[in-house]
Amino acid sequence: MKRTHHCNELRPAHIGQTVTLSGWVHSRRDLGGLIFIDIRDREGRTQTVFDPSNLPKELFDRAAALRSECVISVTGKVRHRPEGTNNAKIPTGEVELGVTALEVLNMAEVLPFPVDDPEVAAKVNEELRLQYRYLDLRRPEMSRNLRLRSKVATATRVFMDEQGFLEVETPTLFKSTPEGAREFLVPNRREPGTFYALPQSPQQFKQILMVAGVERYFQLARCYRDEDLRADRQPEFTQVDIEMSFIDREDIYTLIEGLLKRVWKTALNVDIPTPFKRLSFNDALNRYGIDKPDTRFGMELVDFTEEFRASTFKVFSGAISNGGVVKALNAKGLADATQGQIETMTEYAKSFGAKGLAFIKVEKGEWKSPIVKFFNDAEKAALTQKLAIEEGDLILFAADQWLTACEILGKIRLYCADVLKGQGKLSVPADRFDFLWVVDFPLLSFDKEQNRWYSSHHPFTAPVAEDVQFLTSDPKKVRGQHYDIVVNGVELGGGSIRIHQPDVQKTVFEQVLQIPPEMVKARFGYMLEAFRYGAPPHGGIALGFDRLIAILCGTQSIRDVIAFPKTAKGTDLMTDSPAPVEPKQLRDLHLELKMAKKE
Ligand code: AMO
Ligand code: AMP
Repeated sequence: MKRTHHCNELRPAHIGQTVTLSGWVHSRRDLGGLIFIDIRDREGRTQTVFDPSNLPKELFDRAAALRSECVISVTGKVRHRPEGTNNAKIPTGEVELGVTALEVLNMAEVLPFPVDDPEVAAKVNEELRLQYRYLDLRRPEMSRNLRLRSKVATATRVFMDEQGFLEVETPTLFKSTPEGAREFLVPNRREPGTFYALPQSPQQFKQILMVAGVERYFQLARCYRDEDLRADRQPEFTQVDIEMSFIDREDIYTLIEGLLKRVWKTALNVDIPTPFKRLSFNDALNRYGIDKPDTRFGMELVDFTEEFRASTFKVFSGAISNGGVVKALNAKGLADATQGQIETMTEYAKSFGAKGLAFIKVEKGEWKSPIVKFFNDAEKAALTQKLAIEEGDLILFAADQWLTACEILGKIRLYCADVLKGQGKLSVPADRFDFLWVVDFPLLSFDKEQNRWYSSHHPFTAPVAEDVQFLTSDPKKVRGQHYDIVVNGVELGGGSIRIHQPDVQKTVFEQVLQIPPEMVKARFGYMLEAFRYGAPPHGGIALGFDRLIAILCGTQSIRDVIAFPKTAKGTDLMTDSPAPVEPKQLRDLHLELKMAKKE
């Protein structure tokens, strides 16, 4: 029995035809002597009916023995459903199949969790879902995610091909370059004590491809990073990785805006407006307290450093005289926060380095706060005016060094938005997408513990031309030609124009990042050498493909858009990996384990 149609296809126009469907038993109901089986395949569902008066007993008994998720083929005649039994929820809801033949292709045991009821499925523990991922992926929501992922991958390839890009695969057995995240190492059997590393990104290969004259490269590239995992981070993930020669930042913006426009149209049939807004790193921090702001709602940070410079509230004036700032935000409608909630918020702020979280509640026309007594009329007037204070508002303050104060209030802003959303006081439409380029990042950040500068992004990012002169004299002044693409508060991707002059790259490695010359030679020597044989000016970007798909699918977790993701502990629960290996395998690799004895 060979399938003639998929389970989403039959309509009243097919009535009278004999067809064969193949798939899984989605559900079985025994009613009034008849057996109703909804058969499901990748595309949809169709109701089939087994009537003992028209079928050999043996066939009817076989149908009666079927359980959810058995695999079957059924042949029968398409007919109208009886009056009043149409199911408007599925596209085949007007018809059913009067079964004449059944082939049981495979039986199924009782499942560890049901896959036919979205509400039940939503409550299934994620670990169980991951252990039985093949069942989880049968759920229509998950199969929709995989399908969308495939569609977007194809749309991306078509678009990049139209733009003249070559898809080039780069090695995943690479070399350790311990500059960024922690790496996964692969021991080399042929030369004991040497290792490959899995690439964190194809960064160096794609730049070398520019030296090789490829001019326009892209790849749906698998990347590996051994970092702490979260909902938006996996140890292996996919990037839409891009590099181009003879371009400037504007060319990248135009390309990515075109690509995302195509992707949104293909996946959601939504026209996103371009060009995207741009915001400098400084403005992003000043206004939103984060370098990937969610601009779908306001609640912006406001600076009160000048107003409180001479304040009698020493927490504020003291922070300012220490070179810091005072910033505040207005969480509109949160004045009803309880003491407990304010304490929770304060603890949350402290976990990001805050020394406290001063507040004012505006209730019954009064400002309720332990610190209001310190404020004079001018200070109060400035607060009222700049924060548009009204009845019902909650004002929150951070007094600290600029970056710390911004970052604390940035976290508090998102926290308050979540609370307000939960209370129905703030609504963000699900189909709203706020794209944003964040630009003008500092090239370098200072690591106090190690007392040295490190690259804000990676060491290949070019400084803004007029800032090159400060590279060694005043590193904090140097802006990088770096850009991030942000949507709805998610960092979707980032990239930069690269350094293509070997001497500038050498200066950055040795004098700015203070990597000893021998180490630079061992790690990056091939790159510096390649740049000496005619390296074109170039730049690029990488989009997090999993994050892109998660946004399109409207899910918070990239695990929902990866077929076989890992848990927060980095394990694959289905295959039970990572796992120990045989002693012989270790001997072949010249490895010996030294493990602390378990108690
Ligand atoms: P970056 O490190 O910013 O840049 O990475 C680019 C994008 O990749 C995604 N991403 C991740 N997604 C899932 N899990 C992870 N662990 C993870 N880490 C990163 C993010 C991020 O914005 N070579 C440079 C790009 C360049 O300069 O061209 C790079 O890798 O969405
Ligand atoms: P204190 O004078 O320490 O009792 O603090 C008075 C209020 O100011 C409390 O609500 C503290 O949480 C808050 N506070 C203390 N330090 C800071 C700071 N650096 N920034 C913002 N608020 C603070």
